[in-house]
Amino acid sequence: MKTRPSEHGHLAMFITLPAITMILDAPLTIAWQPGSAPSAFEPASPLTALDMRQAPPIIIHRPMQPTSFRDPRQNAQLPLLLWWHDGIFPHFPGSTERIDCPQGACLVTKKKKVHLFKRTKAILFYGTDFRAYEVPLPRLPHQAWALFHEESPMNNYLLSHLPVLRLFNYTATFRQESDYPLATQWLPSLDYLRRPPVPLEQKNTLRVAGRAPVVYLQSHCDVASDRDRYVRELMKYIPVDSYGECLRNRAFPSERLADTQTAIGEDPECLDLLAGYKFQLAFENAHCNDYMTEKLWRPLHLGSIPVYRGSARVCTWLPADTSAVLVDDFPTPQALAQYLIMLDTNDHEYEKFLTFKSPHGITNQFLVSEIKRRKWGVNDFEKPNYMNGFECFVCDDINSRAQVLRLHQTSPQTNPILPVRTAAYNHMGCPEPTPGLGELQEIPENDPWRLHWLNDYWQSLDQAHALVAMLLYNESDPSRLWSYMGT
Ligand SMILES: *[C@@H]1O[C@H](CO)[C@@H](O)[C@H](O)[C@H]1NC(C)=O
Ligand SMILES: *[C@@H]1O[C@H](CO)[C@@H](O)[C@H](O)[C@H]1NC(C)=O
Repeated sequence: MKTRPSEHGHLAMFITLPAITMILDAPLTIAWQPGSAPSAFEPASPLTALDMRQAPPIIIHRPMQPTSFRDPRQNAQLPLLLWWHDGIFPHFPGSTERIDCPQGACLVTKKKKVHLFKRTKAILFYGTDFRAYEVPLPRLPHQAWALFHEESPMNNYLLSHLPVLRLFNYTATFRQESDYPLATQWLPSLDYLRRPPVPLEQKNTLRVAGRAPVVYLQSHCDVASDRDRYVRELMKYIPVDSYGECLRNRAFPSERLADTQTAIGEDPECLDLLAGYKFQLAFENAHCNDYMTEKLWRPLHLGSIPVYRGSARVCTWLPADTSAVLVDDFPTPQALAQYLIMLDTNDHEYEKFLTFKSPHGITNQFLVSEIKRRKWGVNDFEKPNYMNGFECFVCDDINSRAQVLRLHQTSPQTNPILPVRTAAYNHMGCPEPTPGLGELQEIPENDPWRLHWLNDYWQSLDQAHALVAMLLYNESDPSRLWSYMGT
């Protein structure tokens, strides 16, 4: 079983500093001093996942907003929430913390020994690390399972299948239908979209000086979306400057940028380079509804038109009707190239894509209201980060249910117990990976993408069934998963 690198790796480590909140997606190589002003939003790098992992970014936890209500119970009386994966515990220091949420308090811990306690009411899983052969067994009927998965579906295809999804009672995923949706996780604010673009005359000057109309900056090449198969074909019909590891045909203009350790994240020099391009290829590493990353939002921020492929319903999130070119609107890479060439030579048509930069240009009311409504923030002093927010979401539901149950016991007629809650397929469920270009039948049996990603997706379904069987048979040793395969 391989472990998949996390493309962004931004949950690698947690650090708490009192009274400071932010989610810093910047790698540690970008110096950040405690006590200095919080930096601007810094999404992760377009460069390699491996580089990112060498320089783990940090998340700084800030406690929930104090509420006027404080749960009078002692810590020993509170429900316990257990984070199951060693690397993921959004509190620091220590391994147990009291959280005071709007409906009551809970203790969150990473001490696995509480797994079978009656007081342990929920187990929280970090999706990328969720392994069928490591789940806490036996599953106790009173324990809810909660899934937190903000990362790419390709990090763990186990979670794309219904038999596994419906084991969870609470979900926080990139999907809008999840209980605690993270779809806009890479968009810090609407203001982020309002940064002025590089003037079109300047972009045209750069074009005359030899820049391609399109830029590609990607160093994670063998991915589930098989994007390079498409880009390679596209490059036959329109010039593309590719600076990353994937399909590289151009060197960075400076040595500093060529060193991938510095040319990452929101490095200003790198951003300036990208902002001067008319178009940026923005291909997610896997396709699933609402899985949208900085690949979409960064070009919008920079005022360079994203040529996007990823979430099939990205339209519902774009700042205005015309603000991105959608790859799937075109029958072939050649047709897409012709359209981009037309925009490249027609300033009037090109500028239409940037009307969202004008003062009242963000016309998508759904986007506006979702940003306002979300209960977590990115670098936001008013709102908790999404992991602590999700903990409170779970804690509140558990405390409310216990409250309703007590009332039910005293007067069942007037207080029905709350219905069981279970995750549905649309809380994450993602489709089978498809080739970046052409039909599956045209892809040879020994094609590396096919061998790797298609197999991975379907083997995950086998594991999903085996996991369900283990639960059904009251198995207490998850490492016996393999003997349940094919049952
Ligand atoms: C959680 O989900 C499981 C599996 O669907 C279900 O048996 C259990 O009753 C649910 N628990 C709660 C608290 O809803
Ligand atoms: C599993 O345990 C439950 C409750 O303890 C019991 O009702 C059920 O029969 C057991 N199933 C098997 C297959 O042993």
